[in-house]
Amino acid sequence: MRKVLFVCLGNICRSPTAEGVFQKYVDDAGLSHLINIDSAGTGAWHIGKQPDPRATEAAKKRGYVLEHLRARKVSTSDFREFDFVLAMDHSNLSDLLDICPESEKHKVRLFLSYANNAELDEVPDPYYGGARGFEFVLDLVEQGAEGLLSEITREL
Ligand code: 4NP
Repeated sequence: MRKVLFVCLGNICRSPTAEGVFQKYVDDAGLSHLINIDSAGTGAWHIGKQPDPRATEAAKKRGYVLEHLRARKVSTSDFREFDFVLAMDHSNLSDLLDICPESEKHKVRLFLSYANNAELDEVPDPYYGGARGFEFVLDLVEQGAEGLLSEITREL
C-alpha cells in the first residue's frame, strides 16, 4: 500500500484536481487496492467545501470526478500517515516543510518533479484567472500523474 497526499493552498482547485485525475489513473491501472489518495490545503478558508465549480467542470469534460471531494487543512499527522506529500507550487512546498517533522521531510516534494518533460516545475494557482488556467492545471496534473504512477508501480 502507498498513500499519496496532494497539497495546494485552498484544497479547492489544484489538489482536488490532482486527486481526481490520479484516482482515475490508479483505477484504470487496476491498482486502487494498493494506492490510497487524498488531498489537503495549507490554508483553512475553504474547509468542508466542494472543489471550485470551474475545476469540477473542467475535470468532468476529461472524465474525472471531483464532486464528492471536500476541502480539509493539512495536519502534522499527515506527514506520518502518507508516503508521498506532494506540493503543487514552491510556496506550498515551503509551507509544508515549515511544519513537517524532520524525520518525514524526505516525503515532501513538488508534484511535478514526477512529470516527464513538463514545461514548469509547479502547477500555477488558477483561482483568480479564467477557464484557460483550469485547463492548464489539468494538462500539468496529467503529466505529473503519469510519472507518479510509473514511479509507484516500479516501487510496488
Ligand atoms: P488552490 O486555489 O490552492 O488550487 O485550491 C486557491 C483557492 C482559493 C484561494 C487561493 C488559491 N483563496 O485565496 O481563497
